[in-house]
Amino acid sequence: MWPYPKVIAHRGGGVLAPENTLAAMQCGLEHGFAAVEFDVMLSKDGVPVLMHDPEFGRTVRGKGSVATTLAADLQRMDAGSWFSEKFAGETVPTYAAVVQFCRAHGIWMNVEIKPTPGSEIETGRVVAQLSLDLFADVAPGEVSRLPLFSSFSFAALAAARQAAPQIPRGFLMSQPGSDWQQRLQELEAVALHTNHQHLTAAVAQQIKGAGYGLLCYTVNTRERAAEILAWGVDAFCTDRIDLIPADF
Ligand code: G3P
Ligand code: MG
Repeated sequence: MWPYPKVIAHRGGGVLAPENTLAAMQCGLEHGFAAVEFDVMLSKDGVPVLMHDPEFGRTVRGKGSVATTLAADLQRMDAGSWFSEKFAGETVPTYAAVVQFCRAHGIWMNVEIKPTPGSEIETGRVVAQLSLDLFADVAPGEVSRLPLFSSFSFAALAAARQAAPQIPRGFLMSQPGSDWQQRLQELEAVALHTNHQHLTAAVAQQIKGAGYGLLCYTVNTRERAAEILAWGVDAFCTDRIDLIPADF
């Protein structure tokens, strides 16, 4: 039984706010979403921050990278005006600040661990260790009050498992290969996270039949959402929080 919400605001606020910012979390909340996905990587000084791209240029202007920039500097960088002037001054938030915001508002989190190349193990370990502190008051059995970690990086999730085995994991595979079940077993993962575009009813049935949760990204039409839910998919991220309501 899937213990988490069914519809998840991708990168916080989908298409309505600058991704992976506190304003995005606020935007999702204002649209009735009590579940978010966001991306976490490490700054130069090893602080988990929210960011999708390892290199600047898209959501943060200029040249440079997250892995070569101190967290204090990232927290001063404008991660909002690329999206709209309305969000100018919105900065790169730390993971800790976002967890604090989400927990204060009852928002459940799918924390995508997105290591910069070469920092897979460290990122998984550090995010998991910090999460132990941030969720120290939650009993291990209360899974719906804990985040769900996910990552395309097997090594990052394995490191997260070692550091915080009680925080559940979902393995991200854009298209489940023949080894999907073995990989999930190795990680003691509770779910497979996959690109809905490659999913078929038969594969969904196999995954669900094996007893795993199944989460899809990134589903942006109501028709497709209804189709995959009918296949047994448990949950999906969406950018279109304006089209697909949280209670879809
Ligand atoms: O976690 C699901 C999805 O966010 C994975 O892809 O590139 O949007 O982080 P991406
Ligand atoms: Mg993501």
